[in-house]
Amino acid sequence: MTKQTDNSPFEAMDRMYRVQRHFYDLTRKYYLLGRDRLLKQMEIQPDANVLEAGCGTGRNLIILGRAHPEARLFGLDASQAMLDTARSKTNAAGVRNIKYMTALADEFSYEQTFDLKRPFDVIFFSYSLSMIPSWRDSIENALNNLEPDGSLYIVDFYDLSGLPVWFGRLLRWWLAKFHVYFRPEMIEHLKSLQSSGRYHVAIAPQYRGYSFIAMVTKISE
Ligand SMILES: C[S@@+](CC[C@H](N)C(=O)[O-])C[C@H]1O[C@@H](n2cnc3c(N)ncnc32)[C@H](O)[C@@H]1O
Repeated sequence: MTKQTDNSPFEAMDRMYRVQRHFYDLTRKYYLLGRDRLLKQMEIQPDANVLEAGCGTGRNLIILGRAHPEARLFGLDASQAMLDTARSKTNAAGVRNIKYMTALADEFSYEQTFDLKRPFDVIFFSYSLSMIPSWRDSIENALNNLEPDGSLYIVDFYDLSGLPVWFGRLLRWWLAKFHVYFRPEMIEHLKSLQSSGRYHVAIAPQYRGYSFIAMVTKISE
């Protein structure tokens, strides 16, 4: 497990979000498009174990917690500061079925990190993979922590191809300041999971290429 040193992803994310977390939800509302669409689209059974990797302020989990009061919801994040905000927002919202843990997306395990007896039914990433350098290992780790019939969902930035060129340049420049990148190779990687014959993969661009929603399900043998 990665130690919480000054150069660790834990400390880097705390530095980035220590102040931002106080106005994060208000500002991101306008440009993390497609999150609510994903939350409505996810199939969640009443007794499901659901994990958001890179859950930030808990905004998505609180919405899910209200919609699925019987489900067991979990959030992990590299930033302890973000999770402090997530816990206080969750308490203020009166949502009781969410547990948060400080952990990295490419390292967690359902047993050791969350003390669970079985893997997750659903794992999702909402605008987190675009800022995780180890995105490939994070996807693999998520798939390894899913039930055989579980589902992985991703919502994140896409290629901006349907939008004006100047807008795309401006947005990419702005996002790079926060170490956030659209990764064409991640889309290729998701497609290669489909070609492996072990997964069914559906990738749907939305908002004229602003973002995409992907769903990955294991094909049972
Ligand atoms: C842009 S925010 C998205 C938050 C939330 N998912 C949402 O939709 O509002 C990305 C989050 O990913 C977290 N993060 C970044 N790298 C991470 C990693 N390697 N493991 C876990 N979380 C990470 C950050 O601390 C941050 O809270």
